[in-house]
Amino acid sequence: MTNDRSIENWIQKLNEETLHKGVDRRSFLQGAGKVAGISLGMVMAQSMGGFSVSAEEAGLEDYPFLLGVASGDPLPDSVVLWTRLATDPLNGGGMPDRNIPVKWEIAKDEHFRHIVQRGTEVTSPALAHSVHAEVGNLEAGTVYYYRFKVGKDVSPIGKTKTLPSLNADVASLTFAFASCQQYEHGYYTAYKHMAKEDLDLVFHLGDYIYEYGPDEYVASTGNVRHHKGPEIRSLEDYRNRHAQYRSDADLQAAHAAFPWVVTWDDHEVENNYADMIPEKGQSVEEFVQRRVAAYQAYYEHMPLRRSSMPHGVDMQLYRQFSYGNLANFMVLDSRQYRSDQANGDKSSPQTEESLHPSRTLLGGEQEQWVLDHLGTSNSSWNVLAQQIFFAKRNYGPSPDQPRYSMDGWDGYTPARERITEFARNENMDNLIVLTGDVHANWASNILADFDDPSSHMLGAEFVGTSITSGGNGADKRADTDRILAQNEHIKFFNDYRGYVRCHVTPNEWRADYRVVPFVSSPGADISTRASFVYGKDSDGLKEVSTATVPQGKQTSSEVEDDRHEAHNRAHKKQAQKGKHMQMN
Ligand SMILES: [Fe+2]
Repeated sequence: MTNDRSIENWIQKLNEETLHKGVDRRSFLQGAGKVAGISLGMVMAQSMGGFSVSAEEAGLEDYPFLLGVASGDPLPDSVVLWTRLATDPLNGGGMPDRNIPVKWEIAKDEHFRHIVQRGTEVTSPALAHSVHAEVGNLEAGTVYYYRFKVGKDVSPIGKTKTLPSLNADVASLTFAFASCQQYEHGYYTAYKHMAKEDLDLVFHLGDYIYEYGPDEYVASTGNVRHHKGPEIRSLEDYRNRHAQYRSDADLQAAHAAFPWVVTWDDHEVENNYADMIPEKGQSVEEFVQRRVAAYQAYYEHMPLRRSSMPHGVDMQLYRQFSYGNLANFMVLDSRQYRSDQANGDKSSPQTEESLHPSRTLLGGEQEQWVLDHLGTSNSSWNVLAQQIFFAKRNYGPSPDQPRYSMDGWDGYTPARERITEFARNENMDNLIVLTGDVHANWASNILADFDDPSSHMLGAEFVGTSITSGGNGADKRADTDRILAQNEHIKFFNDYRGYVRCHVTPNEWRADYRVVPFVSSPGADISTRASFVYGKDSDGLKEVSTATVPQGKQTSSEVEDDRHEAHNRAHKKQAQKGKHMQMN
């Protein structure tokens, strides 16, 4: 990390670069300082005799909680409660250009008869009137309900849950993970179903938004909704895009039902960027400005702790969560610190460039942090909650003509080997990797040496499909049988949309691939396409159930590289629009 810049420097930089007009610098700096420091004082004032904000004081004519509520980053004694005030979410928020206090309440019951704490957060225009209330002094492993108030307006109610006590003996955990929710590609039916599950926690593994203009990135089954506004670049653009996604009722329901732990992938900024290097077609200087805007908007819209507030161009997103002694989750950031993709970021065989030991995916500091946690963990399971395909995956036309993704861990093989070698030396058999990015379900054994099927079994990787990205999909693709045959450690593929539900006990990790047969119209039912169990033995993954998905298309003509092609077509459309704009 290079987060050594102070918050004052960040605020100053933000003020100079991205703050919209009409707020004078002095009042902005004072307001932003209060955002960082005011919470505790206001909470104390509240507990000492109440705090009231009348409708007149708040001065809002329209309902400000149109983006719903969320909670996240739970700890045994604390959780973040999120909302963002916006009366006109898709057009800059519609809020007055001043700080506005927001009251919050957290209770043991959904009727708020047993309120355990109240407090007030002061929201500011500088952070899009977002609330990140870090509520402490809570009981471990406990369900709470929360809501916000401004004047007479009360938010929807959210439900959340703290983590079990550190090192507590925990019998089980049930959670879901999701990723990739291109708004135009389909309806968030999967989230509607997720909200009804009985979950302790949700992980989001990236591509929460997509940056494209309307109909630039088109699903194979067509786009059924449309991005508002062109390709996003400015802070206001990113805010409006987050707001468009967050206006979806099904997404709001899933946020309101469980605490979420989020991490980003590339599309929260731009397709396949690497550290400060953009995809193409823009200068590094332009891109750095863009990344600052994107990171800030991401922070503003996610239930993240203040420790993740952006500092200059950086943002601390990798972090660790202990679920009692059952699971040690390391949430990774594989975008902010990575070396540029090798081989021109094209599907390719390994080359001297892609195999160079100097290449890093996590950056030196984060990589060492992972190894330190793996080395000291006493947890039943060690989990990397992250973005990109970890296991080796040759999707070339034959074993002798290999092609790998240069954007996944295959493009950073030495970095992967530094983790697998460490795990092998520690004799680990409890390494679980959770993955998004590739818009399909996969399950794979993790071997000490992917080229040697008899090598030490370190654990398993569960790759979750997209919520919508890619469109309806099918049970399998034209290249599925070949890819499974030439990658023996990979045990499962499926191309419907949905999420993965995991049920974890000390000795067994079960993954249920929950899928919907279509997203191009609302109303699909959910079912479990397959369930896999990993039991810390040399047999690796076992399929324990499999089922045909009603109404699902069985086979598509798509192949793995089609996803890259869809992005390339989107990029060409963007480039043509850019040229057109220059000519005018
Ligand atoms: Fe994606």
